[in-house]
Amino acid sequence: MKETLRFPAKFFWGAATSSFQVEGGIENCDWAEAAREGKLPLIGSACDHYNRFEHDFDLAQSLGHNSHRFSIEWARIEPEEGRFDEKEIEHYRNVLQALRTRGIEPFITIWHFSLPIWFSESGGFEKRKDAPEIFARYSAHVAEKLGDLCDHFSTINEPLPYVSNGWRRGTWPPFKKWPLIDLIGVAAYTNVEKAKENIGFKNIFGYFKVLHALGKAHNAAYDAIKKVRPSLDVGIISHVIYFHSNANPINKLFAKIMNWHFNHHFLSHVQTKIDSIGLNYYFHRKFGDKAVYDKTDMGWDVYPEGIRGALNILKRYNKPIYISEAGIADATDRIRSEYIRKLVIGVYGAIQDGMNVKGFMYWSLLDNYELAHGYSKRFGLIHIDFITQQRTIRPSAFVYKNICETNTIEIDHG
Ligand code: BGC
Repeated sequence: MKETLRFPAKFFWGAATSSFQVEGGIENCDWAEAAREGKLPLIGSACDHYNRFEHDFDLAQSLGHNSHRFSIEWARIEPEEGRFDEKEIEHYRNVLQALRTRGIEPFITIWHFSLPIWFSESGGFEKRKDAPEIFARYSAHVAEKLGDLCDHFSTINEPLPYVSNGWRRGTWPPFKKWPLIDLIGVAAYTNVEKAKENIGFKNIFGYFKVLHALGKAHNAAYDAIKKVRPSLDVGIISHVIYFHSNANPINKLFAKIMNWHFNHHFLSHVQTKIDSIGLNYYFHRKFGDKAVYDKTDMGWDVYPEGIRGALNILKRYNKPIYISEAGIADATDRIRSEYIRKLVIGVYGAIQDGMNVKGFMYWSLLDNYELAHGYSKRFGLIHIDFITQQRTIRPSAFVYKNICETNTIEIDHG
């Protein structure tokens, strides 16, 4: 028996990207600098999206998308401390106009991992006491200049993965590691010699210091944005991991502690200054679980149904939620269609559970620079040939298109 599940009216369907992962040509950010030093794969021209965004949005429109999430590159807008580049503001205004003329609702992320070199080299969020104010000034500038073309802004993408990879695992700038981390099986993607220099107990303090500074930065940015444009929807992007366990009380306790630190710790500091939450879902971790899962190209468990539990974790905040990212690295497109279908069914389930979910943005529209993995992992609905810049729509994108266009998903009860 077939059943058609219908989503609420005006539901947002689309895909997401981030500036330095797709634009190309950004040389003045900390990731580009680290790549030049041999600590990360080179970024180069990525998908050349900076020049090809109109064509990419034509493709998104042809795939039935009515929303799109992207980020602003801080290093473009504020290339030197306190100097804002109006030409780059104009670029992002053109991006927003291009979305609007295609009937695609924009969602802006103000900062997605990469920092201007002047900011990271002068201490960044770890050492500069005025970091929250600096971030708030940049955020207010972006909101003031772009807020007439976009209603939805998020300040920070995924504070927890940012500090975990930068100050604990040492895989992202500034490559700081906790001692003994290798013993618990974390792969080092970085130049080992350089990474070794950054191992130390002080990085445990650095981790919590940066997390705390990011909370202050978000809160300051929220106030600064509301001052210039009170009507904007201002949120945070949260990477939510679905921790669950078997019936064993010890495992239950582990799941509870991890859930608190990874999912609630940061949110509890900013919850009075958010209008909405963007949820990024990739992982679950079941304590005491012996099951063997199929793996994505990242080596992560294939467990899309966990998105329902992840959404329910946010119940206590009582805010509108956008799925700002969920997706799979699957170069051959072997499991992406089914993965998307299960994600969407999970979101529908969460809506039945009472969660106020307003939209779903697949990660990612395009294959892109997958952080420390460079171009080797492919999340895109659209395949990119990084030599010719040829775009090819993957079959799974058409399965998603049907969901976007009908605002429904059909399930077969067999
Ligand atoms: C990040 C993206 C990244 C994706 C896949 C998310 O946590 O926001 O930048 O590409 O995960 O790893």
